[in-house]
Amino acid sequence: MIEVKNLHKSFGELEVIKGVDLRIEKGDVISIIGPSGSGKTTLLRCMNFLEKADVGMMTFDGKSYDMSRMHRQDILAIRKKTAFVFQNYNLFFNKTALENVTEGLIVGRGMPKNKAQEIGQALLKRVGLENRQDYYPSELSGGQQQRVAIARALAAEPEIIYFDEPTSALDPELTQGILTLMREMAEDGMTMLVVTHEMSFARNVANKVWFMDNGIMVESGNAKEFFDNPQDLRTKAFLRMTEESTEK
Ligand SMILES: Nc1ncnc2c1ncn2[C@@H]1O[C@H](COP(=O)(O)OP(=O)(O)OP(=O)(O)O)[C@@H](O)[C@H]1O
Ligand SMILES: [Mg+2]
Repeated sequence: MIEVKNLHKSFGELEVIKGVDLRIEKGDVISIIGPSGSGKTTLLRCMNFLEKADVGMMTFDGKSYDMSRMHRQDILAIRKKTAFVFQNYNLFFNKTALENVTEGLIVGRGMPKNKAQEIGQALLKRVGLENRQDYYPSELSGGQQQRVAIARALAAEPEIIYFDEPTSALDPELTQGILTLMREMAEDGMTMLVVTHEMSFARNVANKVWFMDNGIMVESGNAKEFFDNPQDLRTKAFLRMTEESTEK
């Protein structure tokens, strides 16, 4: 479904992505893990063209693109098939939960308002917020705001959803709720690429894991094999460190 070859990205002198290759199949649930500053967010942002790559080729649904010279209409065409869920939710603060979900349908797609509202209500129900549709983000907990953001992502009917640490701003109880929702989405067959520190999600929900270190995709593979039998020394060191920190 998506293939990226030889992706490079620098900020000034600092090379942050150093020639990454990757491949995503329909239905994949992929966790990206790795130390802070290793380039995980930058990788996701390059893949959705929020950041312009210096070098890289992307094939998306059989069409190839030079990621360093994207035409605006190609970016828009790809973004129609993708959605993004951020750590800090990125909701519109002056819109209700329902309006946050329907905005893209009404303004972006020109869907009639009543149809969009029907879809929005169903999606809010799907994420467990049927009685919060008229609340503003400031009246919702972090976990509820993230549920709205996920409902908004689902509204776009994307082929893939990119998540950047969707639970890292949340308390442990709220985190579990969001992880459960993401697990259900995975079971429904949604293709997902998830930057996460939640090793239980990476181990138990994802089918593949990518480990990034210092701008390089050090190791990638089947999630179970990755955790049971990591190959690279850097992966082993990272996994040992995360185990120690969860034991504390
Ligand atoms: N807009 C920017 N301008 C300059 N440097 C940047 C910019 N965005 C990221 N960087 C640098 O790129 C490197 C990788 O950052 P990135 O946010 O991709 O890391 P990350 O793996 O997502 O880390 P974390 O786990 O802490 O979120 C860091 O050294 C960061 O300082
Ligand atoms: Mg990040």
